[in-house]
Amino acid sequence: MPLTVLFAASDGNWHSYAAPLRAALAEAGLDATLTREADPAAVDYIVYAPTSPLQDFSPYARCKAVLSLWAGVERIVANPTLTQPLCRMVDPALSEGMVEWVAGHALRHHLGMDRHILNPGRIWDPTCPPLARERPVAMLGMGELGTACARALAALNFPVTGWSRTPKAVDGIPCLHGPDGLDRALATAQIVVTLLPKTPETENILNARTLGLLPQGAVILNPGRGALIDDDALLAALETGHVGHATLDVFRTEPLPQDHPYWSHPRVTVTPHIAADTRAPSASRVIAENIRRSEAGEPLLHRVDRARGY
Ligand SMILES: NC(=O)c1ccc[n+]([C@@H]2O[C@H](COP(=O)([O-])OP(=O)(O)OC[C@H]3O[C@@H](n4cnc5c(N)ncnc54)[C@H](OP(=O)(O)O)[C@@H]3O)[C@@H](O)[C@H]2O)c1
Repeated sequence: MPLTVLFAASDGNWHSYAAPLRAALAEAGLDATLTREADPAAVDYIVYAPTSPLQDFSPYARCKAVLSLWAGVERIVANPTLTQPLCRMVDPALSEGMVEWVAGHALRHHLGMDRHILNPGRIWDPTCPPLARERPVAMLGMGELGTACARALAALNFPVTGWSRTPKAVDGIPCLHGPDGLDRALATAQIVVTLLPKTPETENILNARTLGLLPQGAVILNPGRGALIDDDALLAALETGHVGHATLDVFRTEPLPQDHPYWSHPRVTVTPHIAADTRAPSASRVIAENIRRSEAGEPLLHRVDRARGY
């Protein structure tokens, strides 16, 4: 009997995923029916995005795993009806996109590109930027995305310090952990990149105290989640110039409300949650591989630890 895979995500997602996901399931050797509607009692797997109307997982008693299309799972992880294993999205193309966004915005600030791109006064200022090796970076979050970005920046010679919850060993990148580690990572960072999940522990991790630890003029790049930053504290630090610029891709409310001070602040760049997108062809292969593993009795990849929240 074919497996029933319920696709519980937006119409747009269905449009992008229907063909590549069917192809990936077949390539993985799975006899599966991919559908947008099914008797809950007959569903074997759920491919899921939190934008779906499906919010009550309790009728899906036979479901062996919920496979998220998103890397961030904060909108589903605490759902009390979700008792099935939950896997988050780790997609090579998503990581690739994040590396490009982080490297691009880091280089923009490092090279001071705005001074030349926006130079209405036609000022001939021949000041050269320092080399990347003289611009320390703190990478907050050394998971799939943070590690890929840390490696890319280190390859450009930025001295990157990683920070995570648990100790890490990454070739060529000194890694710190825990609260003391955070303070040490921030104390020298001229560029801070936040690639942490949103959990009760990471909310407002950049606040008045931690922003105060940064050297004068440091730049923040936040492609993680809006809630990682205390917005009032950041605006205050931008006002005094203690933080030189913030390039923000994610916000507590999205789309960012028209009257939000970030839109008009001269030291803030807003990008509309486009740092990295899951790409259907590669993400479909990740989902199919996880279903194959589950059916073969192998452990699921990228399983979310419900207690940790990511
Ligand atoms: N803007 C976008 O387009 C976009 C796209 C995709 C994802 N994202 C965001 O990026 C986030 C990171 O994704 P990922 O795939 O790299 O996640 P991940 O592999 O789960 O990595 C998360 C990292 O954060 C660390 N961390 C978690 N809680 C912490 C704490 N309390 N203190 C210190 N470190 C902590 C983890 O530490 P350990 O290693 O010690 O566990 C890990 O290194 C996602 O959760 C999502 O919010 C944004």
